[in-house]
Amino acid sequence: MTQIFAHRGYSAAFAENTMTSFIEAEKALADGIELDVQLTKDGEVVVIHDEKVDRTTSGTGYVKDFTFKEIRKLNANKMGIKKDPIPSLTEVFEWMQTNKLKCNIELKNGVFPYESMEEKIIQLIRINGLSERIIFSSFNHYSIVYCYRLAPDIETAPLYGAGLYMPWIYAQSICSRGIHPKYTSLADEVIKSALQNGIAVRPYTVNKDSDMKRLFELNCTAFITDDPFKAVTIKAQKK
Ligand code: G3P
Ligand code: CA
Repeated sequence: MTQIFAHRGYSAAFAENTMTSFIEAEKALADGIELDVQLTKDGEVVVIHDEKVDRTTSGTGYVKDFTFKEIRKLNANKMGIKKDPIPSLTEVFEWMQTNKLKCNIELKNGVFPYESMEEKIIQLIRINGLSERIIFSSFNHYSIVYCYRLAPDIETAPLYGAGLYMPWIYAQSICSRGIHPKYTSLADEVIKSALQNGIAVRPYTVNKDSDMKRLFELNCTAFITDDPFKAVTIKAQKK
């Protein structure tokens, strides 16, 4: 049964990567959430997509130049009425104790190689007993291989945009149990072959009805969408 991962939470309707967007994804009956992580100046793992806070918050500047106390004062819901701070990964993990959702952590360390970010995240996962509910992904494949070396029991999946040749072979070569391809460059045959070879396939970012229907038909492992409510509705119609 194809699972539904809410991209940056329920970001079609709520401010991305906020606790509100994650809580609303759970209410929409998503199976999991996808989120992005960066590191503050004082080493706190925070949930935000860009290296800079400018696009999504009331502030300006790089995440790496803020302390956690400083970055918490910013509003990550600048278009909305209710103030929503940038969450720490700890805060997300505490909320995950109240549900059974999976969490795809995308390491955003392709621009700044945040030192020890992988170690810090794995420590938080262990403290919170979440090893079986986490999938690490990144466009920085060196980082996910490093995660695998530190914690071989936690699933990893490379993110990629273009049409990789036989991506299941590549996934196996870096000890990943899944792949997270851009859905536009993904032929049905590639999905089928990856699944037959025991590799989970979770394309991103799937928002059109027709694309969702196609992935449900193929019994793809999961997909990542901004609109989990739409995906859940289409899935229910298919049953
Ligand atoms: O994890 C899938 C997707 O989130 C990757 O792209 O830019 O939305 O983080 P981006
Ligand atoms: Ca992401």
